[in-house]
Amino acid sequence: MDSPLKALPLHLQFYLAMLIALQDITFEFGARAIVENASWHIVPGDRVGLIGLNGTGKSTILRVINGEYTVSKGSVNKIKNLSLGFFNQDLLSFESDESILNVGMTAFEQALKLEKELERITKELETNEEEALLMEYADKLHEFEVLDGYNMRHKTAQVLEGLGFSTADLERPYSQFSGGWRMRVLLAKLILQQPDVLMLDEPTNHLDLPSIEWLEKYLQSYSGAVIIVSHDRYFLDRMVNKIVELYQQQLHHYAGNYEDYEVEKELRREMQQSAYENQQDYIRQQERFIERFKAKASKAAQAQSIAKRLDKLERVEQVDSGPSKIRINFTPDRIPGKIITTLNNVTKRFGKLTILEGASAEINRGDKIALIGANGKGKSTLLRVIAGTEPMEGERIGGHNVVPSFYAQHQLESLDLNSEILDELKNFGSGRTEVELRALLGCFLFTGDDVYKKIKILSGGEKARVALAKTIISQANFLLLDEPTNHLDMNSVQMLIDALAQYDGTYVLVSHDRYFVSQTANKIWEIVDGKIKEFKGTYAEWEEYKKRQAENAKQLASADKNTNESKKKEVKNERPNNNNANNNSGNNNNKNNSNNNSNNNSNSQPKNAPIDKEKQKELQKHKRQFQQLEEQLARLNEKKASLETSMNDPQTYSDKKRFQQLESEYAQLGKELKQVNEDYEKAFEKLMELEG
Ligand SMILES: Nc1ncnc2c1ncn2[C@@H]1O[C@H](COP(=O)(O)OP(=O)(O)OP(=O)(O)O)[C@@H](O)[C@H]1O
Ligand SMILES: [Mg+2]
Repeated sequence: MDSPLKALPLHLQFYLAMLIALQDITFEFGARAIVENASWHIVPGDRVGLIGLNGTGKSTILRVINGEYTVSKGSVNKIKNLSLGFFNQDLLSFESDESILNVGMTAFEQALKLEKELERITKELETNEEEALLMEYADKLHEFEVLDGYNMRHKTAQVLEGLGFSTADLERPYSQFSGGWRMRVLLAKLILQQPDVLMLDEPTNHLDLPSIEWLEKYLQSYSGAVIIVSHDRYFLDRMVNKIVELYQQQLHHYAGNYEDYEVEKELRREMQQSAYENQQDYIRQQERFIERFKAKASKAAQAQSIAKRLDKLERVEQVDSGPSKIRINFTPDRIPGKIITTLNNVTKRFGKLTILEGASAEINRGDKIALIGANGKGKSTLLRVIAGTEPMEGERIGGHNVVPSFYAQHQLESLDLNSEILDELKNFGSGRTEVELRALLGCFLFTGDDVYKKIKILSGGEKARVALAKTIISQANFLLLDEPTNHLDMNSVQMLIDALAQYDGTYVLVSHDRYFVSQTANKIWEIVDGKIKEFKGTYAEWEEYKKRQAENAKQLASADKNTNESKKKEVKNERPNNNNANNNSGNNNNKNNSNNNSNNNSNSQPKNAPIDKEKQKELQKHKRQFQQLEEQLARLNEKKASLETSMNDPQTYSDKKRFQQLESEYAQLGKELKQVNEDYEKAFEKLMELEG
């Protein structure tokens, strides 16, 4: 805050620093209130997470702030000339044939205009050297410099690349990109505009992990206020320092990130619950009094006044017990053959971009596969290849009796906006009765009159739930799910996890949601160098495996380095080279220790000296030593393998103490192995040397 403000009383300072003030606002859709008498003040530098279950009205609040909806009570005030940036699904309707770099650069409207004028004046100056024109040129140039016009291309490219575009992409026309990638261009444009208040409605739906991380870093140094609607708790934890929760038609304010909110929320819930219970006790007691004395003349007046007081009492609401649990039978009608789909030697290219090259894989009945990895690796393409809807080279064999159902982002767009939810399901032709359909919709949390809502007015999460209901209604025994948790709030994600846990069929899903994948997959697939890499295990096991692999690679590199260094020393001391030893090194990759004595004896014999008795004896000794080391190594390796098996056992994960114990044993074993391995290699070299 600057000094003139400081002279004012604190509450006025705060008031003047405010960018937006929602004061006691009420907003309704027909009879349904979204907020009632709610207030919210947005100040510079705010990093606010706006949260709430699907359909509570978060996007609606942003539209109220944006001026698209008018409140029925209260006021929405903004400081003069406030610039607002609003990132939301509606942006998808934007079309352009310009390159994405140019689209991104439209953020610098003023500078672009100046650039054009400067070009015009330059041309004019070729024939007309009037001073006034020169002055105009100088003025405009100065303005252009102040606006940092020389950097606009570079800045735009930087932001686009941060959001996942390659340098070559920048010149490609916007119209060539898919919906998700277009959203990234528009996000880039918005953040380049640097509005005073940036409102982002579920930005991470369109991003993969590296881009999310980039956005987190970028926004950390953003000078304006940022309001983010997100269902991604990791993202919120890193991004925001305030939480506003839309809950029971009220805006509840919390300081801190999502984690702090959870702690505080629990406390508030407990307080609300006990206030509710106390009030209920009080009400019951008063009602008993009224009941008992209303007929008694001497107390009737008192009973009446108590009754009046009770009527006026502001009631404490009971804490929500949370959304209902899903309960549906997901057993498919038909059981498919053992093999669901086989891919043989599949190659898929988009122009120069190779997605798959000679890839093969098999999906078996009961597989619950998560296909993970960065955007652009071709996960959705592979899903379509599996479904048989994507042209490719190679062979795809569909299994017997397989009834697939595909859920993709564009499913949301393929819903008929003008139909009602129930009709949308009826028209889908599943042949189910209305009662069955209503039961299914109930499982997807559409109850009562909700089923008559028009698709057009549904929130993102509600639309996603209708599309998921459609996917499941098909009685398919093989589901292909592309990013099914996008738009879903945390409770709905849990609902989907529960639904999939009950699902008897087979599925392949693509998701960036680490929690969701960890709860739903028994196999992990990745696309690596055009091949499908399969890991048989859960996500937690896969992560552990990856970690161990990285550690092993590091150890291998350092073991190699050590071995090479010690070899170099030996080479210097004695012989020019020893290929055999080289070939052998690296068979086992392990750690270091203390007590060894096999390496510091005997290398004074000249090479190729006749083998005398002394030497024979030494040779025998070394052979024995070598053998012992070999056996020791085998034993240790066996122990290592068995430890790894135990550590991979999911039961071990659930027992933290046991896991820690195994981990420390594993680390100790690693050290021993490394040392024995080094000794072994040295002994081997020695032996080679002695044997000539
Ligand atoms: N024009 C409208 N007329 C009537 N109801 C509407 C209209 N637009 C939205 N709604 C309803 O208002 C509620 C709030 O919608 P909104 O899109 O704001 O939810 P949200 O909190 O953003 O949900 P999500 O997390 O799923 O994005 C929803 O139940 C929706 O169906
Ligand atoms: Mg929304």
